[in-house]
Amino acid sequence: LMKKVYIKTYGCQMNERDSEAVAAMLRARGYAIIPSEADADVILLNTCSVRDLAEQKAIGKMTTLAHLKRRKPDLVLGYLGCMAQSRGGALAEKQSAVDLVVGTQRFHHVPDYLDQIFTRRCEDADSYDEELKAIVDTAEEPGSESTIRDHVLGTNGNRQVTAFVSIMQGCDMYCSFCIVPYTRGSERSRPIAEIVEEIQQLVDQGVQEVTLLGQIVTSYGRKDIGKQDGKSAFVQLLEAVHEVEGLERIRFTSPHPKGFGDDLIQAYRDLPKLCEHAHLPVQSGSNRLLKAMNRGYTREWYLRILDKLREAQPKIAISTDIIVGFPGETEEDFEHTASLMREVEFDQAYIFKYSPRRDTPAAELPDQLSDDEKERRNQIVLEILNDRMARKNQELVGQTVEILVEGRSEKAGKRMFGRTRTNKIVLFDGDEPHQGELLPVCIERATTITLYGNPAIHNL
Ligand code: 5AD
Repeated sequence: LMKKVYIKTYGCQMNERDSEAVAAMLRARGYAIIPSEADADVILLNTCSVRDLAEQKAIGKMTTLAHLKRRKPDLVLGYLGCMAQSRGGALAEKQSAVDLVVGTQRFHHVPDYLDQIFTRRCEDADSYDEELKAIVDTAEEPGSESTIRDHVLGTNGNRQVTAFVSIMQGCDMYCSFCIVPYTRGSERSRPIAEIVEEIQQLVDQGVQEVTLLGQIVTSYGRKDIGKQDGKSAFVQLLEAVHEVEGLERIRFTSPHPKGFGDDLIQAYRDLPKLCEHAHLPVQSGSNRLLKAMNRGYTREWYLRILDKLREAQPKIAISTDIIVGFPGETEEDFEHTASLMREVEFDQAYIFKYSPRRDTPAAELPDQLSDDEKERRNQIVLEILNDRMARKNQELVGQTVEILVEGRSEKAGKRMFGRTRTNKIVLFDGDEPHQGELLPVCIERATTITLYGNPAIHNL
């Protein structure tokens, strides 16, 4: 009988992609991947460490599952990913119901470990911890960046229109607030040819839009590929991906603002498949704090990049990440962030309250802010953002935009949804046959987050 596995994913798109690759590998090994935890023989939590809240959620979930396991003693429970990497065996020590802890460079060993658990040959595993009765593997592995390559496409019988493609792993930037260099290791990139081949295969199966993924994609290949004709390895990759016939749209995330050299800005002019959207995490509008965060740029430099991007693509949408309440953030520092938000008018922003992370320099700084103060600042920035987003979306009402139809909207029931090249979600009344179409829609109505459209074709 096929063992049933449920994988729950916390955190970013990179984690989503890792879970998908693990699912594909498990499926190839004869496991069934199921969409909910009821009936599961194995429950794996693929975790996030970027803020404490994300870790607490996963730990809380595991506590609930440990209770469930008292009634279902054969249930196999595991932690994967970032928190598994940074906390390792300590997780199994604290929660004895945990059978498996697998870090960020060893996802592809999960099928072996589950096989071992089910054939009760755990004793043979190198990493089996006799005392913990759990398999703990947080080793580093050269070449592991190339192991996130298998896909599960179109699970609900629908053809899948968009896909994530992991191009690199790790980060060497060491922003003072960030745990990622410790959970994901140092920068390692896949070869261009391998990535192009994966994308070609996806396109052959009907995918039309890819998002190139990495913790810091603008650092792609900088160690082993390097610059050519003044073009960074990342831009060389974009050009190679652009050549894939049948591919319609290219996106990428997450970059570092420092990676937006003239070559990348020029790519927005030269590569028609590259969508008019850039996610440019600014973190703060205060130069003093940008320095303390070790970001390597100033507010003025960041704004100059946005000017250049808007010069290259006047319609480009800009999104960002903001941290409020970094240690020592004064009222004046915060006002610089608020004024930046008013000045730039981001199309989307993810606002985070600073969360001290173990091993990071910022966690040791004096003048940590209270939760109340962080929450107050969070609300102020959110209000500015929502106001600007609502206004910008309103401006689109009456305009016709091109969307790529991805499928049926889960939240909005009967409606279909697609995305504009600027990464805005558009809902419309329609049917499955539209899936995969590049459809012109007239925007009829807008809220802060969602646009409602009418296929323009029907109006002709
Ligand atoms: N506290 C709050 N937010 C954080 N981020 C990263 N580390 C922290 C932290 N310690 C945010 C940054 C980053 C995003 C992915 O998460 O804004 O861009």
